[in-house]
Amino acid sequence: MPATLSRFTPVPLEQASRLLNHGPTVLVTSAAGGRRNIMSAAWSMPVEFSPPRLAVVIDKHTYTRELVMASGHVGICVPGAAFADKAYAVGSSSGRDLGARDKFDAYAIPTVTGPVLGLPLVEEGVAAWLECRLIPEPHTEAAYDTCFVEVVSAAADPRVFAGGHWTFDEGNADLHTLHHLGAGVFVCAGRTVRAKPLA
Ligand SMILES: Cc1cc2nc3c(=O)[nH]c(=O)nc-3n(C[C@H](O)[C@H](O)[C@H](O)COP(=O)(O)O)c2cc1C
Repeated sequence: MPATLSRFTPVPLEQASRLLNHGPTVLVTSAAGGRRNIMSAAWSMPVEFSPPRLAVVIDKHTYTRELVMASGHVGICVPGAAFADKAYAVGSSSGRDLGARDKFDAYAIPTVTGPVLGLPLVEEGVAAWLECRLIPEPHTEAAYDTCFVEVVSAAADPRVFAGGHWTFDEGNADLHTLHHLGAGVFVCAGRTVRAKPLA
């Protein structure tokens, strides 16, 4: 039974690109035909402010890709530091191999239900999520495994993202976003540097 939407607050669509602007590793969630799944993706980015559009690489051999192509829907969740073990686990196993179970159950990842597309989304240990519709681009998908999507709803934990801005401080360290260095090693977003105009 999905938990109710918790402390997350809606993010206006015109601010949605900010959620991925700094290149965090994301969780890609999907559902089709009564099946659901989650995998990690280090390769995603905004490609348009308005309407908010993203690109995400989803390998054609993944179970995620199968469900995304069947449903036309893609969930993107932005995990925090406390989610590192689970982010690596869901990126190192396939939902195809679990039989009747799925990775949410196997790794004890509670979900909420997306308000627009009904996607399984993660809030526990996560800083933000976005519900997206696939923009079909058969050549790009086939040749580069790159899927373009349009964001239709987004929300974030206001302890770390509010008013269109991230705040990373000592008080929200568990929600500092993950950036994959490779082989299960991540660096967290943290130190903020504000550019000043040059004289
Ligand atoms: C940190 C991390 C980042 C990853 N990034 C990507 C990515 O950007 N694109 C991709 O297709 N696979 C990526 N993977 C691999 C998939 O998550 C992996 O193939 C996964 O097992 C697919 O699961 P599924 O078959 O249940 O969909 C990544 C894995 C990890 C651990």
